[in-house]
Amino acid sequence: MENQSNIRNFAILSHIDHGKSTLADRFLELTKTVPKEKMRPQYLDMMDLEKEKGITIKMQPVRMTYILNSKPYILNLIDTPGHVDFSYEVSRSLAAVEGVILLVDATKGIQAQTLANLELAKQHNLVIIPVVNKIDLPQAQIKKTQEEICQQLKILPETILEISAKNGENIEKLFKRVIEEIPAPSGLSKKPLRALIFDSKYDPYKGVIAYVRIVDGQIKNNEEIYLMAAKSKGKIKEIGFFCPGPSIQLELITGEIGYIATGIKEPGKVRAGDTITKIPNSQFLISNVEPLPGYSKSRPVVFVSLYPENTDDFDLLKSALAKLRLTDPSFTFELESQRALGRGYLCGFLGTLHAEIIIERLQREFNLNLIISAPQVLYKVLNKKGKEISVKTATDWPVSPGERMMGGGPEFSGIDNTQEPWTRLEIITPSNYLGQTLEILSSLEGKHKERKHLNPEKILLTFEAPFREIISGFYDKLKGATQGYASLNYRILEYRPADLVKFEILIAGKKEESLSRIVPRDKAYQEGRKVVQKLKEILPPQQFSVPLQAVISGKIIARETIRARRKDVTAPLYGGDYTRKKKLLERQKKGKKELKEKGEVRIPHKVFLEMLKG
Ligand code: GTP
Repeated sequence: MENQSNIRNFAILSHIDHGKSTLADRFLELTKTVPKEKMRPQYLDMMDLEKEKGITIKMQPVRMTYILNSKPYILNLIDTPGHVDFSYEVSRSLAAVEGVILLVDATKGIQAQTLANLELAKQHNLVIIPVVNKIDLPQAQIKKTQEEICQQLKILPETILEISAKNGENIEKLFKRVIEEIPAPSGLSKKPLRALIFDSKYDPYKGVIAYVRIVDGQIKNNEEIYLMAAKSKGKIKEIGFFCPGPSIQLELITGEIGYIATGIKEPGKVRAGDTITKIPNSQFLISNVEPLPGYSKSRPVVFVSLYPENTDDFDLLKSALAKLRLTDPSFTFELESQRALGRGYLCGFLGTLHAEIIIERLQREFNLNLIISAPQVLYKVLNKKGKEISVKTATDWPVSPGERMMGGGPEFSGIDNTQEPWTRLEIITPSNYLGQTLEILSSLEGKHKERKHLNPEKILLTFEAPFREIISGFYDKLKGATQGYASLNYRILEYRPADLVKFEILIAGKKEESLSRIVPRDKAYQEGRKVVQKLKEILPPQQFSVPLQAVISGKIIARETIRARRKDVTAPLYGGDYTRKKKLLERQKKGKKELKEKGEVRIPHKVFLEMLKG
């Protein structure tokens, strides 16, 4: 029989690549959760994409048992991602645990995401066990890293454990500290069931599988359940926990972390943050159960339009998005349509890596070929009365009532100002790369806020910039300029005024709305030129010449022309029958004129594919 006082629930937090998954490997080995012959590096990174990219994308719970001083303990670990774009995953895991191991690479020291994670752990009032990793490496700077941690946590260096997740040094000591310092879960077994859903995935046979932390009460197989926020019912098909594969159980008790196969087939009904309890009846009143606080809604900041390349795949895209959202509730999607592309979805993400990963999963796991737009931020347009419109794509850009005839976005009179989101960047860079880092930062429209030495060789720079500039390859530029040494964390700030305009693209005089863009006014000319030049390169020639124009409020800012494709209609004629030749040429001329009047330019899908990349 399990005992609540023997349970320890914890997560490992660190900056990307500081060794979380490798440490989890050692835990799995030490507790014999995974047999030695089945062990492989970064065992808990189970998705192919994680293995290929070498990063953790999904949190992964695992239950281990360990004996300390002849007493068996249950250790529930949640391995979390390190990249800033996945911090929603991290915060969801933190609501299910009592403590964290804060892991810092001794060759890198504290990095931008370490600070952000630390903040999260403090917000959740968790016990923090600071650990310096990679002490086996000759370049490890153990003392310096300890000092950096001490500065942040206001603790003594002796309390910081030194380990090597690679060769296992001091791992048992770390386990001991987890057991001794992280408290057992405090829920009440006599209270009605309250289970927090912190993650989920779809199973075609068992319905949605909810990953849960049992906060109060207990749950047995085959019981009927009630999801408090969704107000939906289900009959349990299976319960269990992860070892790390599913291990079927008869019950889960207070404090445990495991899964409940809900039997619910509609993905939208099971949401992370919801509370599972039992079906109310005459003895058990739902009003006696206080729902758990759940999670604050994620706030997508980067928007990308996705259209199936084959319009018949729209339903596949729709169900794929609903299923993926179960495993990642932080992205959003809403229907949109474009004349040229058919129906698709505008998806909101927490950052560009997040967008990249979800799109790659859609393509791989659901075999979808997609047309993908360049990432956009959410703009705001305000009118003189203070009314506000959110603009996620150029199609949403409002038009004044007079312009309505042209088509386009919602009608909105008296535009007063336009605004865009700003971001606060925290960049940690070695001092010998300060020059390069500052040079990259000076290319942004933002402003410098603060420079702080973490130690003589390491500097924390705080900078504010329009978020629009950060999503167009800033991180890669920073990494490139500092040979990968600088690290970045960012936080979205408030909206600030920006002089924005929408430019439209006319192909043979016809507006192609899917190619419209919103840009800062001072970059409009340059961007407009870029778009028409690129279009000229990739749009196949037609039988008539095709003007390509970039236009702002009816004014042409850039123009190119694709010359007509020449076809020698007289080629099949032998000899010099002049009148027949003339007749054919006349007919061709007439046909071209008609085509031109109709202005029908057939734009192949691959042109959109290229153009929307930005
Ligand atoms: P993300 O999941 O992407 O955030 O990374 P992570 O923190 O899980 O790091 P991971 O465990 O994938 O380790 C990153 C790299 O560091 C891998 O190449 C590991 O082999 C290496 N590594 C981790 N711990 C140690 C260590 O103690 N010593 C040495 N020498 N290498 C280590």
